[in-house]
Amino acid sequence: MFKIVTIPGDGIGPEVVSSAVQVINALEKKYDLEVSIEEHLFGGASYDVHSEMLTEETLEACKNCDAVLLGAVGGPKWENLPHEKKPEAALLKIRKELGLFANFRPAKVYDALVNASSLKPDILSGTDFMVIRELTGGIYFGQPRGYDENKGWNTMVYEKYEVERIARLAFETAMKREKRLVCIDKANVLECSQFWRNIVHEVHKDFPDVELTDMYVDNAAMQVVRDPKQFDVIVTKNLFGDILSDISGMITGSLGMLPSASIGKNHALYEPIHGSAPDIAGQNKANPIATIASVAMMFEHSFSMQHVADDIYKAIEKTLESGMRTADIANSDDNIASTTEITDAITAKLEVS
Ligand code: IPM
Ligand code: MG
Repeated sequence: MFKIVTIPGDGIGPEVVSSAVQVINALEKKYDLEVSIEEHLFGGASYDVHSEMLTEETLEACKNCDAVLLGAVGGPKWENLPHEKKPEAALLKIRKELGLFANFRPAKVYDALVNASSLKPDILSGTDFMVIRELTGGIYFGQPRGYDENKGWNTMVYEKYEVERIARLAFETAMKREKRLVCIDKANVLECSQFWRNIVHEVHKDFPDVELTDMYVDNAAMQVVRDPKQFDVIVTKNLFGDILSDISGMITGSLGMLPSASIGKNHALYEPIHGSAPDIAGQNKANPIATIASVAMMFEHSFSMQHVADDIYKAIEKTLESGMRTADIANSDDNIASTTEITDAITAKLEVS
């Protein structure tokens, strides 16, 4: 029995999560699985009811399940709340409380979509790498932090165990792929980065089969758009990973395509990386593929059912090959499909395959 908690959240979150639930239900039948799905409030949707973005009840539910599926949080309605009440703060809190120290963001170009990116198809085609971002440390959480009338300050700090565990996971991931890991930092300027780099090299001793390369983050940002095919696995700090994963995401055509997995020792949370897109919320226009692909990552990482994950990826690919496109990935002469049409097509392909 797999216990999934969904937290649809705000904007297009509820629409794309309900697409994902439809896919999970189809998989349940196809593979004779027992899945329980429990929905909870999070983000603005929670704030409007409880004056809190993340209630104890939702947090407890997330701690007591096998995997969490998150839609998106935030929107203009809640933008002007004080810093500690903003949806972003709730997102950081859930990451910290669940101990989700590793964030996996794949940058994979679907063949059917090489023309949807702003980069040239020959630079893109065949791109397939994984960004592994540290998610519960670094400058996002370091103390002291704050601002007054005269200055603002944050602290970038990493403990040895924090670097060791993410490095280990990155080497393990590289071992399952092409065995090439790029460690991205700013060791030429930041002591914290030099420390990070040293520890990654120490952990490397346990993984002699992996080729490890160091790269400064500014150069890495350039390399990702210059020649994305050179990468297999990237490991980097929280802040650099935030930036690099958006760049990597966009080269693949649309953020609407990209799933993510946030993994800890005892918990895991899956979410599309696109955010709440309030401008198209409730209009049946959102691209559900990132959330459906997040379900694939859930089957892979949390349920160890790679064949089910592959089945989902295949259904997504076939749907794209059939020419169906939501607006974010469409060319000007394509017919635009709705969220529910794409979801139905993917579900149908799962059922017949
Ligand atoms: C992300 C987002 C978040 C982050 C924000 C919304 C707090 O940009 O998941 O990449 O900075 O981590
Ligand atoms: Mg980000």
